[in-house]
Amino acid sequence: MARPHPSKVKRVGVIGTGVIGGAWALHFLRMGMDVVAYDPGPNAKEKLLDMVERIWPTMETLGLRDGASKERLRFTDSVTDLVSSVEVIQENTPERLDAKRTLFAELDRISPPEMVIISSTSGFAMTDMAAELDQQPERFVVGHPFNPPYLIPFCEVCGGERTSQDVVDWTAAFYESIEKQVAKMEQELPGFIGNRLQEAIWREALHMVTNKECTVEDIDKAIIHGPGLRWAIMGHCLTYHLGGGQGGMEYLLEHFEDSLDAPWTRMKAPELTQGLKDDMIQGCLNQANGASINDLIQERDDCLIRIMQTLKEYREEKGIQR
Ligand SMILES: NC(=O)c1ccc[n+]([C@@H]2O[C@H](COP(=O)([O-])OP(=O)(O)OC[C@H]3O[C@@H](n4cnc5c(N)ncnc54)[C@H](O)[C@@H]3O)[C@@H](O)[C@H]2O)c1
Repeated sequence: MARPHPSKVKRVGVIGTGVIGGAWALHFLRMGMDVVAYDPGPNAKEKLLDMVERIWPTMETLGLRDGASKERLRFTDSVTDLVSSVEVIQENTPERLDAKRTLFAELDRISPPEMVIISSTSGFAMTDMAAELDQQPERFVVGHPFNPPYLIPFCEVCGGERTSQDVVDWTAAFYESIEKQVAKMEQELPGFIGNRLQEAIWREALHMVTNKECTVEDIDKAIIHGPGLRWAIMGHCLTYHLGGGQGGMEYLLEHFEDSLDAPWTRMKAPELTQGLKDDMIQGCLNQANGASINDLIQERDDCLIRIMQTLKEYREEKGIQR
């Protein structure tokens, strides 16, 4: 099999069809591709079909590419069948290093040597996941999405020590051809970019809850009605540029230099005690206020689409590239 041009991919394999794999399958289907999915978990096929059925109207709202159809999804119970039916694989199995290593060794053995194999891992380095590969380790690469990949455009593409630059470039171009905003990383960084930022907030949130400094609801209120509103527009750095008034970032750095040294945040995670788990779970249930997970997914997706459309229209009208 010759590797297709990244913008001409027609058939994608999705291995692991849970939260992220299912959402990738929806995105690839919306982009007009055939999707072959594999997941040995209990009732995996039924769960995937249910997810696709439930979320397809959201895909229609976003706009389908020519030929896109949910009928172009095929579930298989054989990895061998999957690798012989597709041109590229997006792997989405649970975040367990040993299991990913075992799966990658099998894929390396049974798939055509040119086939690019992309992992959705949230934080493992490809160097570690591919450490034991002895055939074509150069075609294994991380393509880390954000949940849900059928809506959030950002992806980080990151190779390991033995990944070829060609494969990193090919993967970035493949994603860009299917409406993704890509950060092509030059070096392996545990957690990549987005999750390192999210983790810092997550750890601090857990500290504040475990110390009873604030509630789970307060934390989400602070983000929803505070910085979160600004982040979608300008990100964190450009937002702070405005915090420096007319002096911009230069003044802000000077003004807040001392408070940067103050130990506001705790970077080491707190112990995940049963009490902390209970508080986090109850706090989320309080906020959900009876809404089911599917209700919340619908709310998140509907609102994300509206926010993204507003931002797109404004940026296009003003010629802003961001
Ligand atoms: N959940 C997120 O927000 C998120 C975001 C970005 C990346 N990721 C990454 O995506 C990957 C999947 O996470 P998830 O949240 O979708 O997990 P999940 O538990 O929802 O889904 C994992 C699926 O993999 C299946 N599976 C287990 N072993 C398998 C195997 N050998 N072959 C094929 N399928 C197998 C399971 O049956 C399950 O359906 C992880 O690497 C995770 O770090 C998750």
